[in-house]
Amino acid sequence: MAMERLNRALELELEGLQREGRAKPPERVITACHPPQGDIGPRYSLAGQSQLFLRMNSNSYLSLSSHPQLIDSADRATRRCGVGPGAVRFIDGTYSQHVALEERIARFVGKEAAKIFNSAYTANCGLALSIASPGTCWVGDQLNHNSIIRAMRIAGVPSGNKAIYRHNDMADLRRCLDGIGGEVTRVVIVFDGIFSMRGDHAPVADIASLAALHHERFADGVITVVDDSHGIGAYGATGRGTSEFCGVLPDIIVGTFGKAFGVNGGFIAGSRTLIEAVRQKADTYIYTNPLSVADCAAASTAIDLCDGEEGRRRLANLAERTLQFRKGLDDLGLESIPGPHPVVPLLVRDTARTRALVARLFAAGILVVGLTYPVVPRGDETIRFQINAAHTEADIRLVLDVLARELAALPATPNEKEQT
Ligand SMILES: Cc1ncc(COP(=O)(O)O)c(C=O)c1O
Repeated sequence: MAMERLNRALELELEGLQREGRAKPPERVITACHPPQGDIGPRYSLAGQSQLFLRMNSNSYLSLSSHPQLIDSADRATRRCGVGPGAVRFIDGTYSQHVALEERIARFVGKEAAKIFNSAYTANCGLALSIASPGTCWVGDQLNHNSIIRAMRIAGVPSGNKAIYRHNDMADLRRCLDGIGGEVTRVVIVFDGIFSMRGDHAPVADIASLAALHHERFADGVITVVDDSHGIGAYGATGRGTSEFCGVLPDIIVGTFGKAFGVNGGFIAGSRTLIEAVRQKADTYIYTNPLSVADCAAASTAIDLCDGEEGRRRLANLAERTLQFRKGLDDLGLESIPGPHPVVPLLVRDTARTRALVARLFAAGILVVGLTYPVVPRGDETIRFQINAAHTEADIRLVLDVLARELAALPATPNEKEQT
C-alpha cells in the first residue's frame, strides 16, 4: 500500500526507458558451464534453452574463471578463513589474502602500491574521492566508461572543472589543456585504456607527452590515470595492458580482476602516498566490506598464471584466435575497427539488421552483444564479439560460418533495396 504511488511513478519511468529503446532486455540465466572437449571450447547452458551456447560476449579474456588452480586457491582460502570478512578493512576485516593481492597486483603493473576494491567501478569512485580538490580540473575522453563519469559526479566535480576531449583526439586534448586557467592547482587526465565498445586503445604515449608539456603550469602538476579494465591481463606482450602495448606507464592505474583474470574485484595502483590517501579518503573502500578471501586468493593465482608460461600460451592463443576472427570478417567483406584487442566490433550500421543478426546468432547457439541507438549514435550500430583464450580454431570458424550464412539470409534493408 505504502509503495503504490512510488510504484506508479517508477512504472512511468520504466515505460519511458522502453519507449526510448534504452531499457535492458530480461537477463538470461546461465545454469551450467561445460568444459572444452577436443577442438570445441567451453559451452554454456541457459535456463529455458535446450541447446548449448558459445559465449562471444565474455570479458574473461584469459578464460581462467574455471581454472582448477584458481578454484583450488579459492577453496583453500575459504577453508582457512571463511566465506566473508566480518567487517570493513579498518575494523579487522583485513586478511592476509587482501594484503597479498595488493602486493601482487602492484608488482604486476609496476607500481609501488595498490588498494583493492569490490570492483573497478567502486575503485574509480574511490579514486575520484581521494584526489578531488576544489582546484582540481578533470579532463577525460568522450567515450570513457560510465564508472569514470559517475565517479566525477560522486566526487562533486563542478562542471567548470571538467573538460571532455573527442575520442582519442590529441589535438582536442591539447585544446582542453591549453584552456585550463591559472586558478587550477591540479589536473587529472583520465581515460579508458581499451574502449570496451570498440576495442581500440588510448594513445597513452601521446597523452603522457601532453601531460608533461603542461605539468609545470600547475602546483600539483598534471596526472595521468588509465582505467585499463579491458587491457590488464589481455593486452601487451605479457598481459600488462595498454601501457605495456604503448610503452608508457601512466601515473595511476585502475583495473579489474573481473575480466581477463576471471575473478572479481578492482584496484587502484600508484605511489605509496596515493594509496595511503585512498585508504584514508575513499569511502567506497572504507565503509564497505572487502572482497572475500576466496576472490583474493583466486585473483592472486590468476596473476601468477598470467605472469608465467601458461599465461604466455593463453595470450598467444588469444592473439591467434583474434587474428583469425578479424581476418574472417575481412574475408567476408565486413566492417570492423582494426587493432589487436580481443574486443572485435562488427559495424552493421543499421538497427533492424543488428537486432535480427543478434537473434539469428542466438538461435544458432552464439551469444553476442548488439549495440543500437541510443547506446551508440545512429549509423554506428554494432555487434560486439569478444574472443577468449579458450576459444578454439573450430569455434571461431563456426562463428564466421554462421555469420556468413545468416547475413546472406537476412532480408535486404530499405537502403540496400534502393541501391539494387
Ligand atoms: C573501463 C571500465 N572500467 C570499469 C568497468 C567495471 O569493472 P567492474 O566490473 O570491475 O566494476 C568496466 C567494465 O565494464 C570497464 O569497461
